[in-house]
Amino acid sequence: MVYEVIDYRKAESDLAFGTTIMSPGKVGDEYYLTRGHFHIRRECGEAYYTQSGSGLLLLESRGGESRTVEMKPGTCAFIPPDWAHRSINTGPDKLVFAWFCATDAGHEYGEIAERGMRKLVLDRGGKAVVADNPRYSS
Ligand SMILES: [Fe+2]
Repeated sequence: MVYEVIDYRKAESDLAFGTTIMSPGKVGDEYYLTRGHFHIRRECGEAYYTQSGSGLLLLESRGGESRTVEMKPGTCAFIPPDWAHRSINTGPDKLVFAWFCATDAGHEYGEIAERGMRKLVLDRGGKAVVADNPRYSS
C-alpha cells in the first residue's frame, strides 16, 4: 500500500477534511504518488497542510499549465478550482498532510488515469526532478 486516507467527512457539513499518509518509495525512478484527480464540482478548490515528511504537490490546469508546490512541515498549499492535483513523496520518510475541501467536491479520477499528467517527478541521483511525462497523451 502506497498511501492511506483518513477521511472525516460528515454529510451535514459543507467542509470535509482528512489526513493522507504516504509511504516513501519508488517504482523504477518515479517516486510514489497519489492518484491524480480533478474535483467533480469544478468550482471547488482545496487546501493541503503538510505535517511531516517532504514531497511535491503537482498541479495541472485544464489548459495544460503545470505547477509544483514544495510540501514540507508547516506549508499550506492552495489548489485552485479545476486544477488536477497529485502528491508525490520525494523524501525518505512518510509524507503526512491534512486536506480540506467542500464535502460535495467529488473526485474525478478517470481523466488522469487515462491520459496521465503532463509532468513526472523522478529521482535523478538522489534529487527530485520534474520532467515531461513521455507517456502523456492529450
Ligand atoms: Fe482533491
